[in-house]
Amino acid sequence: MDLLKSLSEERAYSMPELQAIVTAWVASGAFENGSSVSATDGHVDEADYTKQSVYSLLYSMFRSVGEVKSELGIPFQFTFNTWGYAWPERWGPGPIAADEPQRFGKNAYTGLMHFDAIQKLAAERDGRIHLVEMGCGTGAGANHICTHVFPKCTYEAVDMQQAGVDTCRAQFAPRHRGRLVATRADATQLPMGDEVADVVAVCETHVTDQGEVMTEEDRKFFRSARRILKPGGFLVWGNAIPDIAWQPCFDFMASIGIEVLEVEDVTEEAILARDQDQARIEAYIQQALDKFIAFRLPHFGPRKREEASVAMRNLCRDPGTRLYDDMVTRADTYKVVLAQRKA
Ligand SMILES: C[S@@+](CC[C@H](N)C(=O)[O-])C[C@H]1O[C@@H](n2cnc3c(N)ncnc32)[C@H](O)[C@@H]1O
Repeated sequence: MDLLKSLSEERAYSMPELQAIVTAWVASGAFENGSSVSATDGHVDEADYTKQSVYSLLYSMFRSVGEVKSELGIPFQFTFNTWGYAWPERWGPGPIAADEPQRFGKNAYTGLMHFDAIQKLAAERDGRIHLVEMGCGTGAGANHICTHVFPKCTYEAVDMQQAGVDTCRAQFAPRHRGRLVATRADATQLPMGDEVADVVAVCETHVTDQGEVMTEEDRKFFRSARRILKPGGFLVWGNAIPDIAWQPCFDFMASIGIEVLEVEDVTEEAILARDQDQARIEAYIQQALDKFIAFRLPHFGPRKREEASVAMRNLCRDPGTRLYDDMVTRADTYKVVLAQRKA
């Protein structure tokens, strides 16, 4: 059982199914020569995982593990699959309470909307703007925007993962009486008409992260965004990706009529967020892994538990992991981008 490659984005896995999957993975330890997860910094080579499998596992696990306690004892369900950043001082007072467990994810979503042009557009429409998010995960950010940022907006949250969409439909959409809709789709083939969105939001969506090389998926992703944006509509995009990946993306966007208007570098604030989030991440990982009985099996149980723990820490860009170090060296930079489809 290869957890990093075998699961399907078309399925949500129940807790009994996850127990069986994790047990098969632990048992497979008996036949392994080595692990695809580096024991020192949690790094996993691109060739050793698929995002379809990894996010399928994560979103099913977030749901099945349910409510846990932050390091401060505050209950929360892990729904923001977001590194996020500490609120930049230059943007004014921070919008989220300092003890809110998922504050860095909430900052990332609020930050996408902080640009004057977005605020002006919303003010002109009395907040009645239509947003589409490409790569919404569980819809936690969509819920945050619909509740706290633009409480009169309409929002279509799209992700390829059934388990993420299920969480959005069950936990978040019912709070908004039809204003928030969750759709399962590949964002490169969006099942919606042309020119429907005032704003397209992209928050740490797992695209454009292959360095200087733009993949076919990346190009289709931006073409999709352009197609669904109204002329003059805005694309807001935040992520930590290889620093060398930004300019090829900006060049491609320009070539299809999406003009980059503003770029904010929040890498320092993203590193600070990872530092300040470390205790919560550790508390989450331990509580989540405690739920899986296979990790109590002798010999392979503890070894595979450690492997799972290191891999999860790396996904979270925890201090000491390769992905964290990549931000410190600025091999990866976190930028928040405002772009506009030409009228
Ligand atoms: C790091 S997660 C971020 C999720 C969410 N934006 C958040 O901040 O919690 C990346 C997400 O992008 C989604 N994704 C990546 N490529 C996609 C694609 N081509 N179509 C739809 N979703 C995609 C993944 O399924 C995953 O949920």
